[in-house]
Amino acid sequence: MRYGYFDDPHREYVITQPNTPLPWINYLGCEAYFGIISNTAGGYSFYRDARLRRLTRYRYNNAPFDFGGRYLYLRDNDTGQFWSPSWQPTRTRLDQYECRHGMGYTIIGSACRKIEAQTCYFVPLGETLEIWKLSVTNRRHKAARLSVFSSIEFCLWDAQDDSTNFQRNFSTGQVEMVDGVIYHKTEYRERRDHFAYFACSEKLAGFDTQRDTFLGACRSWDNPAAVERGKSFNSVACGWAPHGSHHVKVNLKPGETREIIFLLGYHENPADQKFDPPDSQTINKRTVKPVIAKYLDGRNVAAALQALRENWDGLLGVYQVQSPDVHANRMVNIWNAYQCMATFNLSRSASFYESGIGRGLGFRDSNQDLLGFVQMVPARARERILDIAATQLSTGGAFHQYQPLTKRGNNDIGSGFNDDPHWLVLGVAAYLKETGDWGILDEPVPFENEPGSEKPLYEHLRRSFNYTLERLGPHGLPLIGRADWNDCLNLNCFSDTPGQSFQTTTNKDGKVAESVFIAGLFVLAGKELAAMAKNRGQHKEAERCLAEAAKMEKVIYQHGWDGEWFVRAYDDFGKPIGSKVCQEGKIFIESQGMCVMAGIGLKDGNAKRALQSVHQHLATKHGIVLQQPAFSRYYIEMGEISSYPPGYKENAGIFCHNNPWIIIAETMVGNGDRAFDYYTRINPSAREKIGHLHRCEPYVFAQMIAGKDAPTHGEAKNSWLTGTAAWTYFTATQWIFGIRTDYDGLLIDPCIPAKWRGFKVQRVFRGETYDIAVRNPRGVMKGVRRIVVDGVEIPGQLLRPTGGGQKHSVLVEMG
Ligand code: BGC
Ligand code: NOJ
Repeated sequence: MRYGYFDDPHREYVITQPNTPLPWINYLGCEAYFGIISNTAGGYSFYRDARLRRLTRYRYNNAPFDFGGRYLYLRDNDTGQFWSPSWQPTRTRLDQYECRHGMGYTIIGSACRKIEAQTCYFVPLGETLEIWKLSVTNRRHKAARLSVFSSIEFCLWDAQDDSTNFQRNFSTGQVEMVDGVIYHKTEYRERRDHFAYFACSEKLAGFDTQRDTFLGACRSWDNPAAVERGKSFNSVACGWAPHGSHHVKVNLKPGETREIIFLLGYHENPADQKFDPPDSQTINKRTVKPVIAKYLDGRNVAAALQALRENWDGLLGVYQVQSPDVHANRMVNIWNAYQCMATFNLSRSASFYESGIGRGLGFRDSNQDLLGFVQMVPARARERILDIAATQLSTGGAFHQYQPLTKRGNNDIGSGFNDDPHWLVLGVAAYLKETGDWGILDEPVPFENEPGSEKPLYEHLRRSFNYTLERLGPHGLPLIGRADWNDCLNLNCFSDTPGQSFQTTTNKDGKVAESVFIAGLFVLAGKELAAMAKNRGQHKEAERCLAEAAKMEKVIYQHGWDGEWFVRAYDDFGKPIGSKVCQEGKIFIESQGMCVMAGIGLKDGNAKRALQSVHQHLATKHGIVLQQPAFSRYYIEMGEISSYPPGYKENAGIFCHNNPWIIIAETMVGNGDRAFDYYTRINPSAREKIGHLHRCEPYVFAQMIAGKDAPTHGEAKNSWLTGTAAWTYFTATQWIFGIRTDYDGLLIDPCIPAKWRGFKVQRVFRGETYDIAVRNPRGVMKGVRRIVVDGVEIPGQLLRPTGGGQKHSVLVEMG
C-alpha cells in the first residue's frame, strides 16, 4: 500500500493522506537553524544544538510521536466550527489533504468546509528563522468570516532540563509582547544573550503567550479555549509555560485568497547590548527588527524560497544519473543526496528516533557521513574534518562523540571504541579524492582542543593508524575496546546490572577480546594512509603502512578466516565469535564486507566464498541481516547485541548501514547483478509499494529493517539519521555506477546488472563537468573496453582534470 507518490520533476514526495503509519518527516534548515516537520506539521526547532538551544517543545515518546508542532487553527466565525489545516491537532475530517516534502521546505495543503489552506514552511538561507507562509482561499459562493490562530509552545532552551526540572522551570518563563511580536526571553535576564520571537504579518485581533490560558483548564491542543470561543485572552506568560499564539481575523469574498506570514526566529544580542534602555530588563530589539521586517514582506519570502531552490539545484547538480532504474535514479539524484546533507547537519542528534537530548556528533559517524556529502559542500567538509580531528586524543584514540555547539569532545560515552580513529583516515581520504586539496594534511590541528598541542592533520592520521598497532591482542588482531563499529558487540562489558550502559560499563581489562572487523578496517585505512604518505614524498612511511597492512592481512588469514567466511571477533575468553563453531551468531556481515573492501581474499577466491556465504546465510528479500543465527538469549560475554529480541537492531536485524559494504564487495568481484539486487532490496523508493509493511518514509533510507527472525520482518525503523545514507549514496554513485573519486582523478569503473544497455552520469568534479555516457553493448556486468574523452581515446580508466573548468563529453564502452 502507498500513502503518496514521488514527484521527481519537483523533487518532492507527495503524501496524500495524513494518517501515514508513522509521522513522515522532513528537515527545515541546513546551516544553523533547524527544524523537524512531519506531514501533519508536528515537530520542533532548534538553533545548532538540539539539546542546548531548543526553541520549541517536544514531548518524548508521545502518541502520536510527532506531537507538539507548528500548529494553525482555522475557525469559521459564523458557525464556530474550527479545524487544523494540517489535520493535527484537531484531526477534523479534511475534504482534501496533501503534504509535499521538498528540498528544505514542506508544503501542507488542505480543504475543509470549502476553505482551502496551504502552508509552506522553510528556513531561508543565511537566516536563523523559519517562515510559515499561509494562504487561505474561500471556495464558497458566499463571503467567509474566519479566524486564524497560530500556536507554538516554547521550550526553555535546554531540552533535557526543560522536560525534567519543573520545580524551577514553572517559575522562570518570561515573554514580551511588543508591536504584535511575541518575544520569548526565559533566562535572558541572567546568562543568556539569546531570545526567540514569533511574528505575524497581519494586524492582530489578539494573542496568547501563556499556554494554559490559551488551552483552558482540562483541555488540550484539539480544543483550545481561545480557538473555541474565537477570541484570544491576551495572556502574558510569567512562569509556567510560555507559548506563542496570534489571532488574526480574515474576511474573504468568494474566490478571494489571503496570504499571512508567520516568523519564528532565534536571535542573539552582544552581551553588553542586551537591554534597551541599557538599565532596563527589556530586550534590545534594534538588531532583530530589520530581520523581522524583511521576512514579513511576501516578496522577500518568495525570493528566499527561490534562493533555497537554486541552492539545491547546485548541490544536487554535482551528480546526476540517468539509468534504467527509476528507484536508483531518484535516490541518487534527489533523496539520498538530500538525506546525506541531513546527516551532515544533524549527525544522529534529532529525529523522531534520536531525541536530540542524548547524543552529540559521533566521531565514527561523522567521518563516515563525509562519504555522502563531501562532493556537495567540500569547504564545509574540510571544516568538519578539522573539527573532528581537533577532538582526537593525543594517543590517537578518540572521544566517541562531540558537541556541535562547543566543538569539544563529550565524555558521556568516553573513548576506547577502537575502530574510531581509522574512520578519520577514511574521511580524509574521501575529502582528498574529491578535492585534491592536499594542503589539508598540513593544517595544524590540536589534540583534545588543547591550545599548544597542534600538529599537522597528517600526524593525527599517523596516530590513528599507530593506535591499533599499539593495541594488539593475543592473536595479533586489534583489541576491540568498548566496541568496534558494532556498538552492541560489547566484549569487555559483562554487565549483569539492569540499567547499566552497555557502552560504558567495562568489567574486563580489555586485553583479550579482538576484532577482525577492525583488522580489515586497519588494512583499508593503511592502504589509504600509504597513498597519502607517497604523495607527500614519504616513501618509507608509505612502505611501513603497506607492510603493516600486509602483516595484518596474514593474521586475518591465520586467525580470522573460518573456512567459508571471515570470523567476526574473539571474546574475552579467546573464543571466536562469528564462526561455525558457535551455537548462535555463526556468521556476521561486518567482517565479510570490511575484509573484502580492504581487498582481502580477492586473489584467492576467498572474497567470493565469503560473499557466497553471505548470500546463503544472511540475505533476505528485505535486505541482508547482520548475523545468523540470531541470539535467542542474553549472553553476558557479548553485551547489548544479545539484549535485543531476535531480528531487531544488531541482533540479526537488517542493519542497512552495512549492506552497502557487501554491495561494494560484490562490485569488487564483478557481480553487478547481485550488487544491484541487494541495493534495491533496501532502497526505500523500491519499497514504497509495501508501505504498510515498511512503514517509514519511502524517500529516505532507514537504519534498520526487521530481520527474518522478527515478527515484523520487513518493517523499517529509525529513518533519516543513519550511516546508511552516506554508504548507500557512496556505493551507488561510486561503485555501481562506478564514477569513483581517486587521488589523481575520476576513475570510471561501473559494475551494473548485465541486462542494462547503458546509463548516463553528469558529474561536476574539481571544477569540471563530465558528461559521461556508458554503453554496455555486450551485456557485461563489469569491465571497461575503452574511454573516449572529447573525441580522443584515453589510456586506462582515469579521467584527469585539466584544471580549466571545462565541460567534457566522455564515452565509455563496457565489455
Ligand atoms: C544501538 C546502536 C547504537 C548504540 C549507541 C544501541 O542501543 O543499538 O545502534 O549505536 O546504542 O547509541
Ligand atoms: C549506530 C551508531 O550511530 C553507529 O556508530 C554504529 O556503528 C551503529 N549504530 C552500529 O552499532
